[in-house]
Amino acid sequence: MPQDSLDSQMANKQGTAVEDEDEPATQALDEDDVIIMRTYGVGPYVEPIKVAEKEAKEYISKINKLIGVKESDTGLAPPSQWDLEGDKQMMKQEQALQVARVTKIIDPGTDDTKYVIKIREFAKFVVGLGEKVSATDIEESMRVGVDTSHGGKYRIQIPLPPKIDPSVTMMTVEEKPDVTYNDVGGAKEQLERLREVVEMPLLQPERFVALGIDPPKGVLLYGPPGTGKTLTARAVANRTDACFICVIGSELVQRYVGEGARMVRELFQLARTKKACILFIDEVDAIGGSRGGDEGNSDSEVQRTMLEIVNQLDGFDSRGNVKVLMATNRPDTLDPALLRPGRLDRKIEFGLPDLEGRTHIFKIHAKTMAIDRDVRFELLARLCPNTTGAECRSVCTEAGMYAIRARRKSISEKDLIDAINKVIKGYSKFSSTPKYMVYN
Ligand SMILES: Nc1ncnc2c1ncn2[C@@H]1O[C@H](COP(=O)(O)OP(=O)(O)OP(=O)(O)O)[C@@H](O)[C@H]1O
Ligand SMILES: [Mg+2]
Repeated sequence: MPQDSLDSQMANKQGTAVEDEDEPATQALDEDDVIIMRTYGVGPYVEPIKVAEKEAKEYISKINKLIGVKESDTGLAPPSQWDLEGDKQMMKQEQALQVARVTKIIDPGTDDTKYVIKIREFAKFVVGLGEKVSATDIEESMRVGVDTSHGGKYRIQIPLPPKIDPSVTMMTVEEKPDVTYNDVGGAKEQLERLREVVEMPLLQPERFVALGIDPPKGVLLYGPPGTGKTLTARAVANRTDACFICVIGSELVQRYVGEGARMVRELFQLARTKKACILFIDEVDAIGGSRGGDEGNSDSEVQRTMLEIVNQLDGFDSRGNVKVLMATNRPDTLDPALLRPGRLDRKIEFGLPDLEGRTHIFKIHAKTMAIDRDVRFELLARLCPNTTGAECRSVCTEAGMYAIRARRKSISEKDLIDAINKVIKGYSKFSSTPKYMVYN
């Protein structure tokens, strides 16, 4: 804003005010006034500072990109930046912490809050906080690290996460599987319904809040073997940024009484500590079998594990961040308590793929193979009615075997048709689909 124009403005204003004194001047603000008002109270260097800040930010992000600093989930720096020697030195100097449990907080919210801690198999103490912890970090029944550096008195030095069995922690899927939605042929509607339940509440929770409904907590995927249930779940894991925990039902069947139930509890506990989490239990029929009468043929320990799942499903908030997926091919054997609405609300059937789906599956599997260019996939799909995705894949593999046997470099349509004859017609007695149809 040039100085002289401002002066002339002021002069103008005064001039008009003097001229008509009896009427209050109701002059509309013109553009210059607006500019003056905008800059009113703003220091002379605001604009340049803003520009410089923006530039600095850009440079920092550029530098970070060049040296490869990334936001990592674990918060660990890349190994090249580790200072192992320095860490060793520090560990030597520092006193080891002891693990204790806070059993009670005395006078919470005041300045001299004290904590009753219990060190296992040792004693109970009333202690204060160290310098590095704030009172808001410590809650009752929490694990904390304590030490005696403060003149022989115990002090809480660090809050610790809940203790979770390492075998449970191992079930977290750290690396994303390399399966994407594009690798699932057919099953469009199923994918759509699954994404609705799994992704929408995690990505747009406000929609559910606005309507006042609770999103489904869990989904059951069922269908004949080899129709892509596990495949779909892995695609979901790849797609969402949520933490993905994958358990096989039989892993929860343990040797000792109560172990399975404890593992389930810890699984859900682990899931709840995450920002967003999908818990996938494959082959739930291993534990979710219905409770029989008093025939005594059912294993009560397995049932206890299943009941713990039921209990945990009730325990968490459906608006929360945990979604449960389960997959099985014997939905009829599952306990009704597990399936009732409110626990697993959605049941998605993975049926046999239709003609279009089969064509798509053939194309997906052919993509990675050396195959002749003019293969008619629709024809192939038409030749194998009532087949699952796994069988389609087996056809492709078998065709490859024919090509290898004939020492050819690429797979022809004839190979595929031979393979269909062998796999679909020849192995039909091994097909599990008719059996599945009998049970369901
Ligand atoms: N819809 C599909 N699209 C592409 N490939 C499929 C499809 N369905 C199955 N397949 C192929 O079949 C293989 C087996 O599928 P998957 O493991 O998902 O079966 P499942 O439904 O979990 O069977 P089960 O009930 O026996 O566990 C997959 O690895 C994939 O190659
Ligand atoms: Mg499976």
